[in-house]
Amino acid sequence: MKAILRTKAGKHFSTMKVETIKASVIKPNEVRVKMKTSRINPVDMDLMKGFPSLKYKIKQIGGIDGAGKITALGSNVNNFSIGDEVFFYRLFSDIGTWAEEITIPVKYISKIPKSISLKESGAVALPILTAFESILALNSKKGDTILIHGAGGGVGFIAVQIAIIMGLKVIANASNKDFEDLKKIGVNTLIDYKTHDFYDQLKLNPPDYVFDVIGKKTLMKSITLKPKKVVSIAFPDPAQMHKSGVNLPWLLKKILILMNKKFTKAAKKFNVELIGQVTGANGKLLNDAARLFDTHNLYIKSFKTKTLNEIETNGLNKLDLGKIILFN
Ligand SMILES: NC(=O)c1ccc[n+]([C@@H]2O[C@H](COP(=O)([O-])OP(=O)(O)OC[C@H]3O[C@@H](n4cnc5c(N)ncnc54)[C@H](OP(=O)(O)O)[C@@H]3O)[C@@H](O)[C@H]2O)c1
Repeated sequence: MKAILRTKAGKHFSTMKVETIKASVIKPNEVRVKMKTSRINPVDMDLMKGFPSLKYKIKQIGGIDGAGKITALGSNVNNFSIGDEVFFYRLFSDIGTWAEEITIPVKYISKIPKSISLKESGAVALPILTAFESILALNSKKGDTILIHGAGGGVGFIAVQIAIIMGLKVIANASNKDFEDLKKIGVNTLIDYKTHDFYDQLKLNPPDYVFDVIGKKTLMKSITLKPKKVVSIAFPDPAQMHKSGVNLPWLLKKILILMNKKFTKAAKKFNVELIGQVTGANGKLLNDAARLFDTHNLYIKSFKTKTLNEIETNGLNKLDLGKIILFN
């Protein structure tokens, strides 16, 4: 079978190549999945740099999420059947999802939402899990206000919809090319991040919560707004990194804590609860998130695809970020 392999750490996707490899052997608690789609997530680009605990001694299959059809069950699996359509997010340290067939622990998978196709499910697996876990982490109160950065992006666009379901009033900070889609899902307060500074717009009437996907200055200004809580997926909390399969050596943990210090200090100064959110591979939570599609008719933005054959011929580059790989 064909797979897209990370041959060694490298800039962008420069060392990613399609090669023919042997399918992995299925373990008792795993299922085998014939892949349909997988998103090219920003974290796939981060993984190209090689985490210190993930040195690429051997070629590794890329990708961390996706959707497909179960073709075989491990001997201990009894809650799924052959033919089930499933979607998933897996650990960074696992074997990836960019292959015609993969094996994956059953605890990471969920049946796809009934209201969307298998192809679409692969486009939203990591974004919906991340958005759902992050909004839940806020433990928010109905009627409160939330500012969502990157509201037109993969994670942000779903976070907006989940926040609305939770009864929150959403302020979207996004690119104006996404305004039409954001209005369609019910957002009336929009800030164009390229022309307006959200801090200036909101300092007199700050939101109760902020959902940050950008980090750096955006995160610092969000804290300075003095909301009750900020949840950030761009602020890697060393204490949570294990959830993604990365076990940081103590020295790197210390460096990360030092790098984060200015944010934690500011949060303390302004009495803001700062949550550094790391998405964990969790089929049960993904299943809860999937049901939101069915009960609330979540909207999926249109997306571009790239087939495995196209990648074999032309490779991957940074403009492919956000596209969906089509395996068959
Ligand atoms: N912690 C975790 O577990 C976790 C999980 C998933 C993702 N992430 C991280 O979360 C980030 C977002 O992921 P994604 O898949 O949603 O990426 P994405 O699809 O590329 O979306 C990012 C969005 O942010 C917008 N944006 C860029 N700069 C902005 C700014 N200064 N203010 C407001 N919006 C801005 C972009 O607009 P344009 O279109 O104009 O560029 C885009 O719509 C990535 O860095 C990813 O690595 C972390």
